[in-house]
Amino acid sequence: MTTRIIPVDVFDIIVFGATGDLAQRKLIPALFHRDEQGQISEGTRIIGTSRRDMSDDEFKAFATTALESFVDVKLRTPEMMQRFLSRLSYTAAEASKEEGWPKLDAKLKDSQDRIRIFYLAVGPDLFGPICERLGNHNLVTPLTRVVIEKPVGKNGVSARALNEAIGKVFKEPAIYRIDHYLGKETVQNLMALRFANALFEPVWNSAHIDHVQITVAETLGVEGRAGYYDTAGALRDMVQNHMLQLLCLVAMEPPTSMEANAVRDEKLKVLKSLKPITSANIDQQVVRGQYKAGASKEGAVNGYLEELGTDSKTETFVAIKAEIGSWRWNGVPFYLRTGKRLPTRLSEIMVQFKPVPHSVFDKTAGPMEPNRLVIRLQPDEGVKLFLMIKDPGPGGMRLKQVPLDMTFAESFNARNPDAYERLLMDVVRGNQTLFMRRDEVTAAWKFVDPILDHWKESGEGPKPYTSGTWGPTQAIAMIERDGRTWYEAPTV
Ligand code: BG6
Repeated sequence: MTTRIIPVDVFDIIVFGATGDLAQRKLIPALFHRDEQGQISEGTRIIGTSRRDMSDDEFKAFATTALESFVDVKLRTPEMMQRFLSRLSYTAAEASKEEGWPKLDAKLKDSQDRIRIFYLAVGPDLFGPICERLGNHNLVTPLTRVVIEKPVGKNGVSARALNEAIGKVFKEPAIYRIDHYLGKETVQNLMALRFANALFEPVWNSAHIDHVQITVAETLGVEGRAGYYDTAGALRDMVQNHMLQLLCLVAMEPPTSMEANAVRDEKLKVLKSLKPITSANIDQQVVRGQYKAGASKEGAVNGYLEELGTDSKTETFVAIKAEIGSWRWNGVPFYLRTGKRLPTRLSEIMVQFKPVPHSVFDKTAGPMEPNRLVIRLQPDEGVKLFLMIKDPGPGGMRLKQVPLDMTFAESFNARNPDAYERLLMDVVRGNQTLFMRRDEVTAAWKFVDPILDHWKESGEGPKPYTSGTWGPTQAIAMIERDGRTWYEAPTV
């Protein structure tokens, strides 16, 4: 079975920060993949912009290197490369200077009636100044959209200032706040699973679910991003956006439709129902860690402070016991953990159901494991429902847990598209369902801000953990205190 590709309307995408890491690793390869699949219409233009002086040819050479690193050689046929590169051009422009902008104006002058996307792959301090210039230069047409990357601010106050600066030029329906986790294939599948099947919804509540775990583990350290990362930390970098968004998709009520505001209204309700973490409960519900030297898959690695070359209290790991005050979820903890330099690269959501109320089997049957629904975002994307069955054979009744594998990607014979591919095409189609609305960002900061404030006020630093381990022991203690344990996939 093959996926049907519906071409999108012709568009111009102007990427600010076009020579940066995101453009190189994600945006250029994503646009190439959509083009290769025939989704991008003739005449579509990709215009790179940054402070750097560069000719069109130099930008094309930059894009070629990006494609060589991030796109399968089989897809990079000479015809395809030629077609894609012919869409590219470059104009240098700086947010704080007038220089370069008239050239951009001239480039866009004759394309007033086509979809226009400004992708701001730059630091958040440039969002406001760039939007202001776009407005002053009358580059914002009725079909213009702006895409901004996280982090939207450093806390609630700065997020408001940013949103206001952008809001002066763009109306909310034209603002696409990207959270690439929402574009991941299995995250989409979570919605299909919940809302296209009658099976799960009746048991999707505190009467049947014991708890939920969301883990986003990385083996890498901060690599070349220490400058940014040290000002952010795991709570701002991963929890405020990606992890809370995943929590929302697990916890939200069924929306009335997949229309953007219907889905975002439901997510917002979840964010607003998160029980606040205060100085009274933070010690029991939040653990903050920082990796020290240890071992990763590549061998011995330095600690965060050695990489940074200076002292820092920035956390590279955080575990949180979040609670939702609602009829559906009261009493069901959502344990979140994320960190760098953990033993394995793994993102998954695990929903653990309550144990059976009474076992009819005797001891020889073995232990009874609770049912678990595991949604694996990466690697080996898939959805598995763990069930108890009788161990086959003529012997006595022995029970065993096996996964019901609900991963059908192989039978569709499809390459799982990168999240950016789907999200970029959604921007062109004008579909905001998978993008964060302003009030969602505000509500997420409202949950995160008190934790940041507490850390600042207490002056307490993160707990050290050895690279290659699952974070500070306090994170294990946090869940074990509740009589639960962090989930590790069984080897079956
Ligand atoms: C980014 C964070 O948003 O997500 C990074 O800034 C993190 O620190 C990355 O490494 C993880 O994304 P993925 O898709 O590789 O899980």
